[in-house]
Amino acid sequence: MQTFFSIEELRATLSEARAQGKRIGFVPTMGNLHEGHLALVRQAVSCCDIVVASIFVNPLQFGINEDLDNYPRTLQADQEKLISAGCNYLFAPSDEVMYPNGREEQTQVEVPLISNIHCGASRPGHFQGVATVVCKLFGIVQPDVAVFGEKDYQQLMVIRRMVEHLYLPVEVQGSPIARNEDGLALSSRNGYLNDEQMKVAPTLYRTLQEAKAEILGGRRDYKQLEDEAYAKLEAVGFSRDFFNICDAHTLTPATAETQQLVILAAAPLGGARLIDNVVIEL
Ligand code: PAF
Repeated sequence: MQTFFSIEELRATLSEARAQGKRIGFVPTMGNLHEGHLALVRQAVSCCDIVVASIFVNPLQFGINEDLDNYPRTLQADQEKLISAGCNYLFAPSDEVMYPNGREEQTQVEVPLISNIHCGASRPGHFQGVATVVCKLFGIVQPDVAVFGEKDYQQLMVIRRMVEHLYLPVEVQGSPIARNEDGLALSSRNGYLNDEQMKVAPTLYRTLQEAKAEILGGRRDYKQLEDEAYAKLEAVGFSRDFFNICDAHTLTPATAETQQLVILAAAPLGGARLIDNVVIEL
């Protein structure tokens, strides 16, 4: 696997591959890779001739009091993992390469409405930062296919909408959530949890599954279900962010008539803000 730090060198190599008719798959990441990321790479490998991953801790998507400075940077270990998953090229740009004129002069991409609810309400500007960097990365790599994790359900929707609205010629694929044996969704931020918190963390997924079972069993009192979930999570030490039962397509609050639902949850525990979701078909 070859690692590129400059846009020009990466693009020269990829244009040769494209000229040979190769189908290019792309997996954007912020590094500190775990099995969930490698599943995205393997999915891209399964449907493409060439797979490019990127590692860039994107300052634009972090709020002022968030973990940008502490976000784990583990390039060498990540390179080894990417090789084992069959990745061909890694793009690992610096801030200067991605934002040569600074943040203030950067053209930004905003996907309205869905960017400002749920995670977007808790993290103002976050999805604008995500959409901007993903749009730039798509421009740099020009992939045929890009693969994103379904753990970040709202992020995936923001990216799909951006691609649709801007007519970007990229097929966006989702990849199922990778979990530990105890159900905890894999995340780079799980590394912020101590041993005690690691035992508590799977309660988030259990609470999602319990709410899903109640809905499949016929309950439609969603506000009450959300309150019950907050009580369960707070009882074991989570702080409250959101636990929202929504329409899976619009992400607006589900009604008794909604047939395809998603429960989106974010819950801080110690130094980590965990997110997870479950989809429900009625
Ligand atoms: O999901 C992530 O790791 C990031 O939000 C992404 C898509 C790589 C953009 O920085």
